Amino acid sequence: MIQFKQYIAEAISKATEIKKEELEGYIEVPKDDNNGDFAFPCFKLAKTMKKAPQIIAEEIKLKIEIDTNIVDKIEVLGGYINFYINKILFVKEVLKELSIKQEYGKSELGKGKNIIVEYSAPNIAKPFHIGHLRTTLIGNSLYRIYKYLGYNTIGINHLGDYGTQFGKMIEAYKMWGNEYDLTTDPINKLMDMYVRINELCKKEEKVLEKCRENFRLLESKDKYCVDLWNKFKDLSMAEFNKIYDILNVKFDSYKGESFYADKMDEVIKKLDEKGVLTESEGAKIVDLTDVGIKTPCIVQKANGSSIYATRDLAAIMYRAKTYDFDKCLYVVAYEQNLYFKQIFAVARYLVDEKYVKGLEHVSYGMVNLPTGKMSTRLGNVVKIEDLIKGTIEKAEEIIIQKNPNLENKEEVAKKVGVGAIVYNTLSTATIKDQIFDWETALNFQGETGPYIQYTYVRTQSILEKISEIPEFKDINIQKLNDKYSINILKLIYDFEDTLVQVTKKEEPSILARYLIDLSKAFSNFYNENKIIGEEKELQDARIYLTKCVGRVLKIGAYLLGMEMPNKM
Ligand code: ARG
Repeated sequence: MIQFKQYIAEAISKATEIKKEELEGYIEVPKDDNNGDFAFPCFKLAKTMKKAPQIIAEEIKLKIEIDTNIVDKIEVLGGYINFYINKILFVKEVLKELSIKQEYGKSELGKGKNIIVEYSAPNIAKPFHIGHLRTTLIGNSLYRIYKYLGYNTIGINHLGDYGTQFGKMIEAYKMWGNEYDLTTDPINKLMDMYVRINELCKKEEKVLEKCRENFRLLESKDKYCVDLWNKFKDLSMAEFNKIYDILNVKFDSYKGESFYADKMDEVIKKLDEKGVLTESEGAKIVDLTDVGIKTPCIVQKANGSSIYATRDLAAIMYRAKTYDFDKCLYVVAYEQNLYFKQIFAVARYLVDEKYVKGLEHVSYGMVNLPTGKMSTRLGNVVKIEDLIKGTIEKAEEIIIQKNPNLENKEEVAKKVGVGAIVYNTLSTATIKDQIFDWETALNFQGETGPYIQYTYVRTQSILEKISEIPEFKDINIQKLNDKYSINILKLIYDFEDTLVQVTKKEEPSILARYLIDLSKAFSNFYNENKIIGEEKELQDARIYLTKCVGRVLKIGAYLLGMEMPNKM
């Protein structure tokens, strides 16, 4: 496909002697097509060129050499140079690309690069909460997109399966295990025991001492403690897996904190060798004031036991060695902002600089459920499995109302319910707080997952009415010269770039936005243009475009983490 943006950047580069790569980043796609198909704002150059943007624009326009088969017209408006692409060529190029490439937008951009995406990471014997839902969905989308762009991608679920709290859990189980039937709702019961033992520990030093002893036994692989710990882990994983199954989320590795239990001495040793360990009230710490972090990083408690940070540091060493990563993304809530700054700063003493540079905290905001007046049966549910199931049930109610004769309603409801959750979660910028409200999420008309799915279903039902769907070679592309078709094609043209932008900013909301824009563009096209019943050439061209929209929506939805129903 002709890379129009790059082509323009190259032409400007020749006229200005500024690097093409730099210029490419400046080129915009104007919202209003009265301003051309691509626009180059000259404001960015005003400072270095010491001229007004308007004048720079005029000068470039005079100097630029451009193939009139590719660009019809160049106009200067304000500080912008607007480029009008040859529409027919554009339509042809985009559709040709789609026809050759089944997996449209897929690329080899990331070939040879290793990307770790760490996401989800719930804690054993604790509930999977709504924050975990958010990291799971953000991470899953990033994982899928990196993979699609050709990166060697490794998805890791860094389970919270270690730490002194397990000493407490073991003690609680010893004391009260027979009171609880763990065959149903195990996590809440384990949680209950945990709360109980904590209260007791506050009152009785002797119990606390026993808990500590249990953790020491666990660390030294005592069979009873290890077996119990495994039991907690299995019970919890069974619950977590239910959620992963519904959401269709997978991981390449479940190496959690416990995996690093025997790899922490190396961390301490190395830090010691570098001479950066100091003691503070018996604990071992690394001072980080040299990089502007006031709180030191504790790597060993006074009683000699390791902590969360030590395990993360061991994980960085392990991952550098095992995966030779170019990037290692941590999709974790912003409450841990300082924490990640600390461990990344300590990492410079443990691994090569190139790995330290690749460490990145993808920090996400809080998720709230609607409360107060808006509170609903679902709004008060904290158990994620119930929240998901409840949303699916609601989706089913809506579907039954809208389309009572639909076959496999349950399957469709599952896709729609999950789609609603996925879209709702990913449509907000990662760093921002958000509210999960199923009523908004399930609105078929709003900017929602179901709206995108509904648009896709429309494309499929149009295609279903046609006995023979035309192929690229059979259509007359001149017939797609109207504003609504061009608008769709521009978005399709932008698809791969959209995915690249997601990886540049670690921001799936860019893709979420894109899918809404494409859905709206199709709705406009559909409302303004008759598709079926036009003269043959026009009908064929529009049918073909409809098919293309369906394809891109489906691929995009998959990359966000949604499935498309064929009917709904
Ligand atoms: N288990 C932790 C939690 O639920 C998140 C772990 C984040 N990842 C990490 N490498 N520290 O809060």
